[in-house]
Formats: sequence, C-alpha cells, structure tokens
Amino acid sequence: MRITMIGSGYVGLVSGTCFADFGHDVVCVDKDQGKIERLLAGKMPIYEPGLEDLVARNVQAGRLRFTTDLKEGVKDADAVFIAVGTPSRRGDGHADLSYVYAAAKEIGEAISGYTVIVTKSTVPVGTGDEVERIIGEAAPDADFGVVSNPEFLREGAAIDDFKRPDRIVIGSEDERATDVMRQVYRPLYLNAAPILVTRRRTAELIKYAGNAFLATKITFINEIADLCEKVGADVKDVSRGIGLDNRIGSKFLHAGPGYGGSCFPKDTLALLKTSQDYDAPQRIVEAVVAVNENRKRAMGRKIVHAMGDDVRGKTVAVLGLTFKPNTDDMRDSPAIAVIQTLQDAGATVKAYDPEGMEQAEKLLGDVVYCKGPYEAIEGADALAIVTEWDQFRALDFDRVKSLLKTPVLIDLRNIYTPDEIAAAGFQYTSIGR
Ligand SMILES: NC(=O)c1ccc[n+]([C@@H]2O[C@H](COP(=O)([O-])OP(=O)(O)OC[C@H]3O[C@@H](n4cnc5c(N)ncnc54)[C@H](O)[C@@H]3O)[C@@H](O)[C@H]2O)c1
Repeated sequence: MRITMIGSGYVGLVSGTCFADFGHDVVCVDKDQGKIERLLAGKMPIYEPGLEDLVARNVQAGRLRFTTDLKEGVKDADAVFIAVGTPSRRGDGHADLSYVYAAAKEIGEAISGYTVIVTKSTVPVGTGDEVERIIGEAAPDADFGVVSNPEFLREGAAIDDFKRPDRIVIGSEDERATDVMRQVYRPLYLNAAPILVTRRRTAELIKYAGNAFLATKITFINEIADLCEKVGADVKDVSRGIGLDNRIGSKFLHAGPGYGGSCFPKDTLALLKTSQDYDAPQRIVEAVVAVNENRKRAMGRKIVHAMGDDVRGKTVAVLGLTFKPNTDDMRDSPAIAVIQTLQDAGATVKAYDPEGMEQAEKLLGDVVYCKGPYEAIEGADALAIVTEWDQFRALDFDRVKSLLKTPVLIDLRNIYTPDEIAAAGFQYTSIGR
C-alpha cells in the first residue's frame, strides 16, 4: 500500500515509520521545513526510544521518505493519514481544528484516484463529516472515503504500542474504505490485534472516552492519596490492594503530581466542550479537570511546606521536567506549574532533565538548567523529584546529602520508600504516605 502521513510529529512520524516497517511504501509530510531537513539528515526531531534506528532502516530499504510537498505525497497514495496537532483552542478549550481542516483542503487539491483519508489526529465527534465536506468542496469529482482511526500510542513506548496495540479502531461507514484500512493494518491483524470497526462518530468518541477514563483513574487515586495523608494510610498499598482486583486493574493508579502531557489535559477539555454543545454534561470529567488543575500548583505548595513554609531566597533542585519519562515532550507538564509556584514564592530553581531541557527552556525562563542531577543538587536547600526517569531511581544519597545545604527530599512520584530515605538521614515528603 502507498501511505502518506500528513504531520510528522510524535504520532505521524512513529506511525509512518512503523507502517514502512510493515512493508508499506510511506511518505511522511510536514510543513515544518526544519523538521523535514533534520529527518533527511538522519536526525530525529523528537526523542522517542528506538525511533532513530527504525527510521534509518526503513529509509535505507527505500520504503520511507520525507517531504514538505504535500501534493507530491498525496497524488499517488492509497491512504492519506491526517496526523497534525489538535491543541486546545485559546480561550475556550475546544480542540483547535484549523490544522486538520487546512490539511483536508490541501489534500482535496491534490487527490487523484480512489483515496482513503484517515483522521488519526484526536478530533471531536463530527470532524470526519467536516473533513469530507472540505475535500468534496475542493475536489467535487474526487473519489474518496473518510474514516476515523484514532491513535492510542504512548510517548516513550510508542513503537511497541503501535506494533502491538490492544486494539485498532476504525470508524468507517464505507466498505471500500474499510477494506483499504484492513489491508493497511493486515500485518497487525496477523499478530491477532483486534480490529474494531464502528461508525465514524463512535470511533471519534472512543478516543475521548478512553483518555477521559484514564485521566479519571489518575485523579481518583490522587484524591485517595490526599486522604491517605490525613488518615495515616499508604497510597501505594491502597493502589496495589485495589489494582489487583481484575475489575479495576493496576495501571494508571500511581499517585503523583497530576496528569499532564500533550493529550489528557486538552482531550478532557475538548470532551467537555462537546458535551456542552450537545447538552449532555459530563460531570465526572468536569470534576477531574478541576481537581487536576488545582493539584499541580498544590504540589508546588507541598514543596514549599516541606521547606518550612518559606522559600524566599532559597534554592530548589528539581529533577525531571517532562510530563513522564522517556520523552522530551513538555506540553502541559505538571513540572511547569510546580516550578512557577516555587518561583512565585521566591525560590530559585535549578533543574535537570535527561531529554526535556531544550523544550523546557522555551517555556520556563529564570531556571538554572544543569548538566546532570548532582550539578542541580549542589548548593540547593531541597531536592524535588518531579518526573520518575530511571536515572533518578538510584541516586547516591551520601553524595546528595553532602551537596545539599539541608537534607530535604520531596518525592512527587513515590520512587523511594520512607524508611530507606529516613535511614539515609533525610527529611522525606512523598505522596499519600
Ligand atoms: N503525542 C501523543 O502521544 C498522541 C497520542 C495519540 C494521539 N495523539 C494525537 O495525534 C495528533 C498529533 O499529535 P502529535 O503529538 O504528533 O503532534 P505534533 O505537534 O508532534 O505533530 C504535528 C505535526 O503536524 C505538522 N503539521 C501541521 N499542519 C500541517 C499541514 N497542513 N501539513 C503538513 N504538516 C502539518 C506540524 O508541523 C507538526 O510537526 C493530535 O491530535 C494528538 O492529540 C497524540
């Protein structure tokens, strides 16, 4: 199959590369010339484990190409995927669909022969109808089908998630298009990945319902963690105690500083907008959004409290900036609100993150960015662990203690146990214990 991916970001680049690895002929398009130039030079515009090798292998095999020329990519394609961003629209939280619609218009101007247009971006219910209308308007004689195929990969494990998905959702009411999609995903079907074919609007909603549910699970355990602190219970044991129940499951039950990232915050907001537009309030998700928003700054205040309620003139070492480990993605990372709260209270922040500092520098001014964890810790009054990168899981505590002015550790990811840290001579604050 000839596949074209419009948008070569976290989703488009990984999906396109994996499709090439399945044996399809893939063109990845992006309007960001810098991104395409980097890719043509064999450099990755994002950090994703395993991606560089996979790209190199498929480029070498002649199955994967990169271009800024959308028309060139679209004209011979069997399937054109739209994988552009759908950020929150400024002001009202609705998904900003301008990139999706612009891509649809350009596709309409380039389309030739029967083509399936696949919306892989996360888009509100009804977007497929509008994509269909835009393409039909740009190319009244074009022969095409529009399907929804939401993506469920997680940054940091994206290749594995794409190649071994729990399920593939195809929203299509057009049999010819469904057949093309089955061929596109045939290699995964052979791996026994369930393919769920639904109505297009259903597929669009599945993505939002899935993310809202996971955001709810995280927020639920975060509130239980707050209760644990008040009643003297341990949230890690509560998580395990409920997660071992198969009906609940252990995933997304780790208490922490609140969810962030490029998906949950914007997708929960967009779902609320849809629910208002259709007069079907989603009160649980409304509460989740409000609780999570409040939590991020509350985590900054938790650090201030652990430092004696006064941080003016003091320095905090922050380890971990990205919204989770194994990515360089800083979009809506809880670290942003945590650091801003510390700075608002008068603290200086020194920070280190293995992959996120380039993006962090664009979002967070006045932070002293360091080359390694111990450089960040040196001379600080306290250490706060905000993202659980593996390399922070086995810090040398004798060294940490000798570098800190006072042995104060705030662990917002519960990667250490209170007993071991107390034994190392630290004043230790964690979540829900
Ligand atoms: N990042 C994730 O983990 C993830 C997971 C599942 C779904 N999604 C969804 O996938 C979509 C893409 O997310 P992302 O994280 O890959 O975004 P991204 O910002 O990393 O990538 C989007 C890319 O699209 C390009 N682009 C925009 N308009 C274009 C056009 N007209 N022609 C060519 N290129 C264009 C941009 O330059 C950018 O490189 C979003 O809707 C997101 O919600 C993301």
